[in-house]
Amino acid sequence: MSAIQTVNLTKRFKQNLAVADLNLSIEQGELFALLGVNGAGKTTVIKMLSCLITPTSGDAILLGDSIATHPHAVKEKINLSPQETAVAPNLSVKENLQLIAAIYGSSKKEDQMLTSFGLTEVANEKAKTLSGGMQRRLSIAMALISEPQILFLDEPTLGLDVLARRELWNAISQLKGKITMILTTHYMEEAEALSDRIGIMAKGQLKAVGTAAELIAQTESATFEDAFIALATETEVRE
Ligand SMILES: Nc1ncnc2c1ncn2[C@@H]1O[C@H](COP(=O)(O)OP(=O)(O)OP(=O)(O)O)[C@@H](O)[C@H]1O
Ligand SMILES: [Mg+2]
Repeated sequence: MSAIQTVNLTKRFKQNLAVADLNLSIEQGELFALLGVNGAGKTTVIKMLSCLITPTSGDAILLGDSIATHPHAVKEKINLSPQETAVAPNLSVKENLQLIAAIYGSSKKEDQMLTSFGLTEVANEKAKTLSGGMQRRLSIAMALISEPQILFLDEPTLGLDVLARRELWNAISQLKGKITMILTTHYMEEAEALSDRIGIMAKGQLKAVGTAAELIAQTESATFEDAFIALATETEVRE
């Protein structure tokens, strides 16, 4: 059984076709990177798959359950670290984790999360006083408290310095193979370093799917960034 199978998944905002007939299959334990320029439709895909917005048409099956007909069952299996980090600024790091643990009824996990995300030293600091990198780490730790089988990471390393990004890569790498992840990013090297496969979207359409090496070969490019530019900007349908 696939972790995620989308069937003509489509979202229209008035005249704007944000996601058009997306057909995508992601295996269990896979880390799939979804790439595309601003406005390509990445966040809209993630919001539909995490049942935050409903598709205009089409469906997606997550570990056997449909987002259209069984969103509650889907929500029990997934979690999300959103593009806009969702930490409570005036709660401490530990309180943020405790709050989420209480909501999901999974207590005791917060100490484990503090350790595995290197947050123990700042456990009693208010979240708003943390650096951007630490806030991102907290956001992902919070998303993992519910022990999701599928995790969506929408630009998890946005605005982080090189060191903070590398630390987060390590944290994400530790999860590889254990849970299924979809990650969006504007950093090509991040997609190359972390993902099993990469999907490239442009104007709501999925233009190509493959490993970084396959996409480089397919476009006869020298680097993955060149391959991305070729695929993310092409407008005609390729044969
Ligand atoms: N709530 C909304 N109402 C109307 N239009 C929307 C809404 N959310 C997204 N859109 C439009 O849908 C399209 C896709 O947006 P989306 O946020 O999915 O892009 P993205 O690939 O995540 O971009 P970015 O890299 O900037 O995060 C854009 O044209 C955007 O303006
Ligand atoms: Mg986005």
